[in-house]
Amino acid sequence: MKIDILTLFPEMFDGVLQSSILKKAQEKGAVVISTINFRDYSTNKHKTVDDYPYGGGHGMVLKPEPIFSAVEAIPGYDKARIIMLTPQGERFSQKKAEELSKEKHLIFLCGHYEGFDERIRDHLATDELSIGDYVLTGGELAAMVIIDSVVRLLPGVLGNEGSAKTDSFSTGLLEYPQYTRPEEFRGYRVPEVLLSGHHRKIERWRKKEALKRTLLRRPDLLAETSFTQEEKDLLEEIIKEIENQK
Ligand code: ADE
Repeated sequence: MKIDILTLFPEMFDGVLQSSILKKAQEKGAVVISTINFRDYSTNKHKTVDDYPYGGGHGMVLKPEPIFSAVEAIPGYDKARIIMLTPQGERFSQKKAEELSKEKHLIFLCGHYEGFDERIRDHLATDELSIGDYVLTGGELAAMVIIDSVVRLLPGVLGNEGSAKTDSFSTGLLEYPQYTRPEEFRGYRVPEVLLSGHHRKIERWRKKEALKRTLLRRPDLLAETSFTQEEKDLLEEIIKEIENQK
C-alpha cells in the first residue's frame, strides 16, 4: 500500500510514523508512507494556501490551487482514494478501516484551523471522513487514527495474524476480558475456568463475557449483529443473571 498525506504540518506525523507497528510496517515494506507539505505547491510569492471566504464571515478557507496541484503531482493519484478529513464526513469505523485496507493507494487531505474550498470536496476528493462528533484543530490527528487502524490490518503487519480477527468490532462484539500471570494478584484471582484447560468451556465463557460487556456498554452494536443459537442462549442466561441481581 502507498499512503500520501497532504498537510501544512508534516512534523506532526514524525513520532507516530516512526514508532511501534507503523514503523515496523514500513520497514517490512507493507506500506510506504509520505508526507507532502502542500504549501510547497502555492504559486504566489508569500506561499499562501488560504484566503478570505467569498460572501464574508470569519475564518479562512483553504484555496483549491495548491491542494489540486499537490495531489496531481502524485503518480497514480487518479486511481487512489482521496480522503478529506473533516467533522462533516462519514463517521469512520472498523468496517471502513477494513474497506480501506484493501486499497493500493490512499491520499489524505488534512486541513488545519480552516475549511476547504468546496471545489476540493466536489471535484478532487473521493471520500470525506470524520473520526467522531467533536472538532479537532486539524485533520492531522484524524489521519493518524485512520492510518493506524488501516495499516495494522495489512497482511503480515501484526505478528499474530489472529489478533486482528478477534478485535473489538470486527466480531461485532466488544472483546472479552483477558488475564495473564500471576494467578492471584493482591487477592484478586483469575477466573477458574481460564485455568481449567477445558477449551470448549473457555470458548463459551469468553463468548458470554463478550456478549455481556457489549450488552451493558454498547447495546447499539447488538442491534446490528446476527446471533447463533448458542449466542441467543447465552444472552438469555445473561439477562436472567442481571435480573436476579436487581
Ligand atoms: N477535522 C477536525 N475535526 C475532525 C474530526 N472530528 N474528524 C476528522 N477530521 C477533523
